[in-house]
Amino acid sequence: MKKKFYITTPIYYVNASPHIGHSYTCIAADTLARYNRQILGKENVWFLTGTDEHGQKIQKASDEAKLSPQEFVDKVVVQFKELWKALDISYDDFIRTTEDRHIRTVQKVLDILHRKGDIYEDKYEGLYCTPCETFWLQSQVENQLCPDCKRPVEKIAEKNYFFKLEKYQKWLIEYINKPENAKFILPSTRQNEVLKFLQINTLSDLCISRPKERLNWGIPLPFAPGHVTYVWFDALINYISAVGEFDDKDKYHSKWWPAELHLIGKDILRQHAIYWPIILKALDIEMPKTIFAHGWWMIGEDKMSKSRGNVVNPIDIVNKFGIDVYRYFLLRDVPFGLDGNFSEGALIKRFNADLANDLGNLVYRVLTMIEKYYRGDIPLADKKIQDIKLNARGEKIKSIIKTLHQAVDASLSGECDFSLPLEKIWGLINMANKYVEETKPWNLAKENKTEELKAFIRLLVEVIRESSKELSAFMPRTAESIKAQLGSDKINKGKPLFPRIDLSSKT
Ligand code: ME8
Ligand code: MG
Repeated sequence: MKKKFYITTPIYYVNASPHIGHSYTCIAADTLARYNRQILGKENVWFLTGTDEHGQKIQKASDEAKLSPQEFVDKVVVQFKELWKALDISYDDFIRTTEDRHIRTVQKVLDILHRKGDIYEDKYEGLYCTPCETFWLQSQVENQLCPDCKRPVEKIAEKNYFFKLEKYQKWLIEYINKPENAKFILPSTRQNEVLKFLQINTLSDLCISRPKERLNWGIPLPFAPGHVTYVWFDALINYISAVGEFDDKDKYHSKWWPAELHLIGKDILRQHAIYWPIILKALDIEMPKTIFAHGWWMIGEDKMSKSRGNVVNPIDIVNKFGIDVYRYFLLRDVPFGLDGNFSEGALIKRFNADLANDLGNLVYRVLTMIEKYYRGDIPLADKKIQDIKLNARGEKIKSIIKTLHQAVDASLSGECDFSLPLEKIWGLINMANKYVEETKPWNLAKENKTEELKAFIRLLVEVIRESSKELSAFMPRTAESIKAQLGSDKINKGKPLFPRIDLSSKT
């Protein structure tokens, strides 16, 4: 079978505008999608994102906005789509959980599981946190406050429908533990977390319904029209509803499934690493290859979040610094998987050091030399030039160019690291800058060492071409602009790519 790459992001709640945290997952997914399109061909990559539009949170937000839930979600979804456009997010499909194709599939799933006996009716009595839409056990709750958001929980008693989680618990533990599934949950710290949780706790069956008197805005259960579907059960199914269909025999067919990668934040690990595999198992559908949970962007000590009200709007940052600068900062500053602190100061520091001083400077000085020594014609690398022995640094650069792609590939397709491949690319860029400073090309020119000068410039051209090729998934516009300036035979020098930001004049 031909290799394919199906990658997803979470479908975000449309109860408020998107912030840096949401953009982080989409930028990371976009980078991987672009990268895989280069390797596998555009037709073998599918990048899905979308929005989670049902449930209590949305009903509450639409009530507050004095709109119907549908009017409300139709309005907010536009903000997400506009942001993804502004950030060059190249998704292939955008799923909304209010779409027919999704509702149909969720109802089919409910129907299959109900017929199979994996969904059953029971009376529910317990504690419920409305903002989090989560049921808690008395033992988990202190002072009647939700352990997650610290808001009061409510006592409720009602008839509901439950999905058998416990039935599959043993299977899940075994599945995660199999050596061939070592990449099922990444990073491995998260896998350990999930395993520990499963080993300590007996899973209680998941309440997957809400009575209509309490919540109207959801997908009706096909076998109990007085109830709507719990929003998490509804939401997870997007990953299959967007790319396939069930047939009459309850078999699921899709060109894209299983997903190679579900990218998520660590806040929703349990839903993805426990509920989702069990739902799939119960439906007799293949498991996704990898679930990767990245860390959080923090503001000081707190997670950036809508409910905490400490969000930064990505558009403001992009308007101030540019799309690729923003993408670069998020992917470079923190190893994927760990938490990071967002501040403009940190971004400006990276901008000046890596983008202005290193990359921007290298491109600018090489173009300037080609202009000065060759009137803008890029010297050709004929046999004679290629055979010239360079100094140690030059030879080192040559060998790094040859292995750069492999190094980038190993990090991106291995443990899903973005920071490391960027570090490797910058290693080459920095070495090239040092090479210029050491070689002193103006002396080569003065001494009429024309062949050496040509070989020197050629190597720098290769450095720029190779690093911008490897950068293009991370920073698509920058790669294009470098390509436009460093044409195939004649240069087309523009303004410096990243003019330094003077810190003293920025307020
Ligand atoms: O949980 N740092 O939607 P959501 C990093 N609808 N990433 C962050 C972040 C932060 N501070 N804040 C949010 C939901 N994210 C459900 C998902 S999926 C079937 C249903 C990112 O709007 C991160 O990817 O709360 C996180 O998992 C997601 O946004 C949560 O978005
Ligand atoms: Mg959230």
